[in-house]
Amino acid sequence: MKKAVVAALILSTFSGGAVAHEAGEFFFRLGTATVRPTEGSDNVLGLGGFNVSNNTQAGMTFTWMATDNVGVELLAATPFRHKVGTGPTGDIATVHHLPPTLMAQWYFGDAGSKLRPYIGAGVNYTTFFDEKFNDTGKEAGLSDLSLKDSWGVAGQAGLDYLINRDWLINMSVWYMDIDTEVRFKAGDQQQNISTRLDPWVFMFSAGYRF
Ligand code: NI
Repeated sequence: MKKAVVAALILSTFSGGAVAHEAGEFFFRLGTATVRPTEGSDNVLGLGGFNVSNNTQAGMTFTWMATDNVGVELLAATPFRHKVGTGPTGDIATVHHLPPTLMAQWYFGDAGSKLRPYIGAGVNYTTFFDEKFNDTGKEAGLSDLSLKDSWGVAGQAGLDYLINRDWLINMSVWYMDIDTEVRFKAGDQQQNISTRLDPWVFMFSAGYRF
C-alpha cells in the first residue's frame, strides 16, 4: 500500500503537463506558523526593554490567482500567545494576538511549473487581546494591561512545490511591521511603552487546490 502511494507520488512528480496556479484558481495552505519577534521597546520602569517570546500556531493561507502569475493571499492563524518580560524580572505578562495579512503576490514560472517561487507585499493588521499580568507582574503592582492594535506593511517570499493537480507543499517567510503601545498601570501611574515586535513569520504547510 505504502509502495503504491510512493509510486503514485513519483509518477505524478515526473509526469508533465499543466500542474497548477492558473488564473482563476483558488487554493489554501494549512500548516505551522511561527512568529519570532525582533522586539525592542522604550525603557520599562528602568528595567530595560521588553522581551517577547516566540510562538507557533496553526497557520492558513487562502490564495486566488488573478493571472497565472499574480496572486492575492490572505493569511490567517489560530491566536498567537507570547510571554512578555524584562531581563531583570523574567516573564511578567501574557498577550494574545491575531495578525491577518493581505498580500499581493508574484509567482515566478508558469502554470506548467512544479516549482513556483513567489514574492509578495501587503498589509498586516494585528489585534491584541487577553493581555494579562502573571503573578510576578501583579506582585510588582502592575495592572490594567492593554496593547494597541497595529497596522503595518508586510513582505513575503515563498516556494510552492506542486505534487500534482490538487496538492502542494510550501515553505514561506514573512516580515511584518508590527508596532504597538503597551499600556498598563504601575501602582497608580499610567505607563505607555512604545514597543515594536517586527517579527519574522515562518510557515511550513501543505496546500490543496479547489
Ligand atoms: Ni516596526
